Amino acid sequence: MTYLVAYYSRTGNNRAIAEQIAKLLSADIDEIIDKKKRQGKVGWLLAGRDSMSGNLTEIEFKKNPQDYDTIIIGAPIWAGNPIPPIRTYLQNVDLSGKRVAFFICAKSDGFNEVFPQQVALIPNSEHIGNFGIREDRFKNEDYSADLQAFIEKVK
Ligand SMILES: Cc1cc2nc3c(=O)[nH]c(=O)nc-3n(C[C@H](O)[C@H](O)[C@H](O)COP(=O)(O)O)c2cc1C
Repeated sequence: MTYLVAYYSRTGNNRAIAEQIAKLLSADIDEIIDKKKRQGKVGWLLAGRDSMSGNLTEIEFKKNPQDYDTIIIGAPIWAGNPIPPIRTYLQNVDLSGKRVAFFICAKSDGFNEVFPQQVALIPNSEHIGNFGIREDRFKNEDYSADLQAFIEKVK
């Protein structure tokens, strides 16, 4: 089995989780880069607006998911919705027939609503699991047992 972890992270939380998952699965890792400026106050406001509107964006990434059996995709939530770089990634790559899992680190447990929206964007893939974690838990608690349970599902 070959694994790719593809992630977007604006402030590093989802990057850290992506790196942990990649290590546990001996997976390749690829950062999805949003070419739209998302830093600063204006970037923050536009990120929320774009996410709420379901907008797409311009992204860059290096690895082709076609080369892998299983793709694990991670990102935060913005304004209660799947974020534009993830919507765009799911539209740009062909994941049909692939095993796909998602992970989200966000401020709240809004990932329970966002996972189904993301799953709806991969109708031709085999969805194999989700790992959601609140930011406070990610920063202050030991979540390794939950992460390991996710890894076992993905394997
Ligand atoms: C514009 C914007 C909107 C956000 N909206 C939400 C939200 O609706 N729900 C939530 O739980 N977190 C929200 N967040 C918080 C991020 O999801 C959270 O800080 C996450 O851990 C950031 O991940 P990152 O460090 O990988 O970028 C928002 C963050 C930004 C920048």
